[in-house]
Amino acid sequence: MPSSTDYGDTAYRSGSQNLPRWRSHAKDFSRRPLLVKQVTYLAIVLAFILPLWYFHHLRRDGSVAQIIAEQPPEDLVALDVHNIIPHYGHNSPGHHANKPAVSALPSIQEDAQTSPAPPLTSSQVTSDPITFAFVIWEPSSAIEGALLIKSILMYASEPVHIHIICDESARLEAEARLELLNHPFYDVAVFFYQLPWQSIQDRLDREGSIWTSHSAGAAGLLKLLVHEILPETVKKAIYVDTDAFFISNPLLLWKQFDTLKPETAIVMPSHPNLGAAEWHNADRICSCVILFDLEKLRNIRLIDSQIYREANDGVNSMSPPAFRAMFGEPDSQTGHYENIMLGDQSYWWAIISYQPDLYEHLSYDWEISSCLVNTYNITLGDDMTTEEDELKSLQHTPGTPHEGKLVIPKLLHFNCIPTDLYFEWPGWSDPSEPLNQHWGPAVKYHQHYKWIWLNRATDRDNNSQANLTIHRVEPALFADEIYRNKHRVQ
Ligand SMILES: *[C@@H]1O[C@H](CO)[C@@H](O)[C@H](O)[C@H]1NC(C)=O
Ligand SMILES: *[C@@H]1O[C@H](CO)[C@@H](O)[C@H](O)[C@H]1NC(C)=O
Ligand SMILES: *[C@@H]1O[C@H](CO)[C@@H](O)[C@H](O)[C@H]1NC(C)=O
Repeated sequence: MPSSTDYGDTAYRSGSQNLPRWRSHAKDFSRRPLLVKQVTYLAIVLAFILPLWYFHHLRRDGSVAQIIAEQPPEDLVALDVHNIIPHYGHNSPGHHANKPAVSALPSIQEDAQTSPAPPLTSSQVTSDPITFAFVIWEPSSAIEGALLIKSILMYASEPVHIHIICDESARLEAEARLELLNHPFYDVAVFFYQLPWQSIQDRLDREGSIWTSHSAGAAGLLKLLVHEILPETVKKAIYVDTDAFFISNPLLLWKQFDTLKPETAIVMPSHPNLGAAEWHNADRICSCVILFDLEKLRNIRLIDSQIYREANDGVNSMSPPAFRAMFGEPDSQTGHYENIMLGDQSYWWAIISYQPDLYEHLSYDWEISSCLVNTYNITLGDDMTTEEDELKSLQHTPGTPHEGKLVIPKLLHFNCIPTDLYFEWPGWSDPSEPLNQHWGPAVKYHQHYKWIWLNRATDRDNNSQANLTIHRVEPALFADEIYRNKHRVQ
């Protein structure tokens, strides 16, 4: 079996004898008749001129490039990612990121997690940046998560905020890659909420009965608590598992928030055609990509805590009745719910089964998952495939919300792959592997796309005020701890 590192050589060298590929093409070209050459030269010249002409007009039409160029000159500060702001929400005028970070220190946790206005984005094209919330634990998850972040920045057409709940090793891995980014075309802000392991365990203990035997462990259950760790100023966020990457503009996913019913707080793909009794049917959803209305989850007080119980303030947490309705009473010995096989997904299933109004389906466009047999038979292929033919070749959609409809892949998810890092799976160098046939080139392209190529704003774009800022929110606290501090509950 080929090793995981030699695919580049074998894949790219084939068919060109000893010549590098471009040279063998050049050789073929020189043998062609004169007319073909002339037409080709003309085509090449046009190919260069048309985009230049187009770009010129685009700018004069007042599109994105120009809006950004209208920023006041004092924003043209060279960025320095090493100048880290340990604070959320201090990008207000007159408080520039390049001031000593120390000035933000006195009230970090109060400001960070209770009140301030969200940071401004330089372009102000929309009121909100595209906002993500990730849980990234340990280096391998961070290396995968960094690829996910890279793909977001490859395709996003607006400023991006990324909130990362993590441990120290994951933060260091992620920062090592982010530091290569110094001239993004749109502003990027990354917020790290570093949590000690014990603090997660303590929060789960304050709920009292939740627990998992799933491989993702307690860190996996943090997905249930994103709304408690991110500050209240962050009202909506897209969650994605780390073993996934975008192949389209994440703004399209962000825009889905505008289409939701007023009561909806949780949006994820559903599979009504599945259902395993031993999992309480929790395989009918995938908690691998979720739109969270964080504000609503805070308002319903999703996950209970001893602190809330003792405060006895008249607000009932949702988790005890929802979880008992699905899993029964906690075990009298352990105090935990039994048979929670799918980690956080089991709990989400209990929550939306208990209160279906909170939930809406998310299109499979965002869940092309390697766990599903043949990824609905969607594959890279003939670029002139018609919609009609594509529809005929789709598989496994009957009985789902997508029966008889196209699935347009926008986010690829490589779960159920038995290696630490999915892109190191030996199957990616095995031409007979169906998953490799379907998506192998996409994995390689996104894996090897260089971070420095995201430094897209050139001097000519006059867009050098767009920058990356890295914020560390320390210490990161859960909402129930903030509640205790605020109300002086013992
Ligand atoms: C980064 O951009 C923000 C928003 O435009 C701005 O307030 C801040 O001063 C910039 N920071 C640096 C270091 O350039
Ligand atoms: C799966 O897709 C391929 C390529 O699009 C197609 O040739 C094949 O017929 C499809 N398989 C089924 C069972 O429809
Ligand atoms: C870019 O900015 C510089 C300095 O602010 C200005 O002199 C120049 O005219 C701008 N160029 C374009 C193409 O807008």
